[in-house]
Amino acid sequence: MTQLGTLDELPQDYRDALSEAGVAPLWPMMRNVLPHGKPNPQTRPGYWNYQAIRPLLLRAGELTPVEKAERRVLVLSDPGRGVGAMQATASLYLGLQLLLPGETAPAHVHTPSATRIVVEGRGGFTVVDGEKLPMEEGDLVLTPGGDWHDHGHEGSEPVVWLDVLDLPLFYYLEGSYAKEGPLQAQRNRPDASLVEYRAAGLVPSRSRSTARRYPMTRFPWARTEEALREIAKFGDGGIAEVDYVNPETGEDVLPVMGFTAMMLAAGQTDAPPLRSSSAAFHVVKGRGRTTIDDTVINWGPKDTFTAPPFARIDHQADEESFLVRAHDRPLQDKLGYYEERNR
Ligand SMILES: [Fe+2]
Repeated sequence: MTQLGTLDELPQDYRDALSEAGVAPLWPMMRNVLPHGKPNPQTRPGYWNYQAIRPLLLRAGELTPVEKAERRVLVLSDPGRGVGAMQATASLYLGLQLLLPGETAPAHVHTPSATRIVVEGRGGFTVVDGEKLPMEEGDLVLTPGGDWHDHGHEGSEPVVWLDVLDLPLFYYLEGSYAKEGPLQAQRNRPDASLVEYRAAGLVPSRSRSTARRYPMTRFPWARTEEALREIAKFGDGGIAEVDYVNPETGEDVLPVMGFTAMMLAAGQTDAPPLRSSSAAFHVVKGRGRTTIDDTVINWGPKDTFTAPPFARIDHQADEESFLVRAHDRPLQDKLGYYEERNR
């Protein structure tokens, strides 16, 4: 590889003149923006132990009323960018959100898409465009960009969920903003997963011409786990994995973010290919360890960890484990550069 010229090699008067003219030489910086062979991510593997964060989250519930927070969230920042960074990887924002009994999080709509994986508690719900979505542990609930949403809590214990947003991309594009509005009237009917999309392979007749862009915004965990168990039982020996898809189109549930649920039997290992996408893993249940490049992460129930692009990832489950992997492969597919490399 040819060593490119550096800034130091240029005379000071020339560098001053360049700055004065509002320009800079590309060659000293070119390898930063176009490294050879693969990207050089700023993202570092992250790990967040739920048992350590839970008391801090509950304390936020005492310190800050929901009216003062709107969304009472502790943000999971990428170690490569430092605490306070509004991103866990280049494309994914993660936050743990607390809602206490009787509280509501006011209605708003924003350009980024948000999703939540329910971590604990019963009685929480999200309303998306008038559809009331119950939130049970492990459920994946989508609030796609442009859809009005608010949250409420009819139970008696704290409810916590993991927010996963494509916010960093929208912020980078200077396209991130929200509008606020009154709480939505709720339609008096169960959500679409319980009505229109009750069974895999069946959609309402003629729905393709009238379906909403995001027709199913709740994916109940019980169904996901059942699907994984059957695949594990009759699968080919690899780990059982299912992708969350739009039931009308078979495509990813959202434009930027994709979601994959994984099941590992006790003692099972998994060594996926090196992927150009970054990922956040949330442990729905189980225990095990994952090596991400040189970082060993021992995870337990409800923990979250992240991996940068092209990371070498090795999972090993100590007990039967279920994880949800959020990733940015749908965006990379659209941009035409998603890639998997053999190890
Ligand atoms: Fe929101």
